[in-house]
Amino acid sequence: MSGAGTARLAVLLSGRGSNLVAIADACRRGEVPAEIVLVLSNKADAAGLERARERGIPARVVPAKGLSREEHERQLIAALEKAQVEWVCLAGYMRLLTPLFIERFFPRIVNVHPALLPSFPGVEAQRQAWEYGVKVAGCTVHLVDAGCDTGPIVLQRTVEVGEDDTPETLSARILEQEHIAYPTALRRLLTRPWRLDGRRLVFE
Ligand code: GRF
Repeated sequence: MSGAGTARLAVLLSGRGSNLVAIADACRRGEVPAEIVLVLSNKADAAGLERARERGIPARVVPAKGLSREEHERQLIAALEKAQVEWVCLAGYMRLLTPLFIERFFPRIVNVHPALLPSFPGVEAQRQAWEYGVKVAGCTVHLVDAGCDTGPIVLQRTVEVGEDDTPETLSARILEQEHIAYPTALRRLLTRPWRLDGRRLVFE
């Protein structure tokens, strides 16, 4: 399906798209042996759509409004299958996926979460961590299962939390690490043999 060891990726997003840019740049530089063949968003005004188009990546909106979760996902799956997508990267995609979608693509669905899971799942993770008073925060790249931020961990990167940090400064430093972590995780998944041992993702 994909030539010369190049995996066909799709990115699903709902907003800014800075992780999309980080992945796309890493693919272009040859650091990740993959090509982003499609970007899908549930939000028509997601800035990430424009980031994709600027790079010549096909980008489409699949609105969720008025559809059941499953019907929306059937439309996503149809678009992904048409583009012969092998891996799905969530990058700021603000909807939980149902078992319908997960069963179609697991274990080749990846997400980045802006906290050291299993701490602080869900929304505003950086603020949750800051309010809790952690001294070390970070981000997690994980495979996606049907739970909320519960899938097997691929890799994590840390940042120290300073006395002067605010949720905003902490988020910005975590985001820098996300942009390193996501391409690094994809490179490992695509170039090294790995297996799942329970919920532990083990690189051979
Ligand atoms: C990131 O903080 C990511 O960890 C979270 O959503 C945000 C997406 O940012 N899941 P961007 O759209 O990639 O800039």
